[in-house]
Amino acid sequence: MTKRYPFTLIKEKLAAREGKAIDFAVGRRRLVLPEAIDSWVRSHVELALQPATRTEVDEFAAAAVALLAREYDVDVEAANVLPTPGGRAAMSTFVACSLEPGDSVLVTEPGYPAFARLASHRHARVHEALLDGEQAFVPDFKAAMNGDATAPRVIAVNYPNNPTGATLTPEAIASIRNVAGSRTIIFNDATYGPLVYGQNPVSLLSKGVLGDEQFEMVELHSFSKLFPLGPIALSFLAGTPQSMESISTYSEFAWSPPSKLQLKATAMCLNDAERMRELREFFPSQLGNLQQALCDIGFQPFPAPAGVYVLCRVPPQIGGEVVKSAEEAASRLMDEFDLAVVPWDTPLHGYLRFSSQYEPEDLDRLSGLRERLRLG
Ligand SMILES: Cc1ncc(COP(=O)(O)O)c(C=O)c1O
Repeated sequence: MTKRYPFTLIKEKLAAREGKAIDFAVGRRRLVLPEAIDSWVRSHVELALQPATRTEVDEFAAAAVALLAREYDVDVEAANVLPTPGGRAAMSTFVACSLEPGDSVLVTEPGYPAFARLASHRHARVHEALLDGEQAFVPDFKAAMNGDATAPRVIAVNYPNNPTGATLTPEAIASIRNVAGSRTIIFNDATYGPLVYGQNPVSLLSKGVLGDEQFEMVELHSFSKLFPLGPIALSFLAGTPQSMESISTYSEFAWSPPSKLQLKATAMCLNDAERMRELREFFPSQLGNLQQALCDIGFQPFPAPAGVYVLCRVPPQIGGEVVKSAEEAASRLMDEFDLAVVPWDTPLHGYLRFSSQYEPEDLDRLSGLRERLRLG
């Protein structure tokens, strides 16, 4: 399994162009830490050298419980929260604890690639449910099972979704319920959790979201998109007691305790309701201006009711020449127009993802490509 992490490849291509490319792939606009957190971290660096004790772990879990109650109206016990060293490490841990070789797993495509890759390394059978813009990006999990009669061991979803911006709708919930069995664990990657616009954020852990049945559930909350704490950021997993107990036990073998600095700084972020409110104003305006600019140059963006990205179907032509796939479109945009975007090819359609973390000049440069792009 040698195919590399696509975002590393894109970052390498961007670096090779030494700042010449317009970065709508990752986005060069960095969010800054709220002033109070930034100055607190700088004046407590000595805590980076001290392993956390029970006190900091308990304070962190209390902040996570408060965040889940405040943002999602979810009631979780502190014992069912586990701080993890980042979102991908959390996913690896969940996969290691939940999957045996040969188990079947449902994922969605286009999708953030980590979960499917980790499950393949565990020799699971990965089924992809396609997210189709013409179907409001609702996954058809039954169709994805392709006649496999055994209920999947894991259904891995990502709401709010990267890259489609879709939220957890009743139709998506019905699709999950349609295939979930008594041994199924439902995993939601809620990395973009609070970034939902014009509606309330929803967590899979909210009472009754999946109906009356009691499913095992685990949800990932990662804050790399909200608070730029770099390598000191922690994420957390929260879920039902049985799953969380096995993940917590495993974690004692899997990694060393985080530092006091990591736990305390991330807990400050979790408690910062004001920052989450500000970001719910910042991103819709960035997304709206980006959608407008994309329409003006001939792309057809999908709505973005959540998250930080705008998704477009691959245009039929670029620069007057036919393009056949998202990979080809992204390569041409980079090589001929110095424009970096993230491609996703699925058996149904190809998509291009544009990040809303741009600077105003990037939007001007994008608009300036209109004549040359001739999208047709
Ligand atoms: C949907 C999704 N999940 C997880 C992650 C990874 O989070 P982390 O940077 O904490 O590993 C990302 C990062 O872009 C993401 O988009």
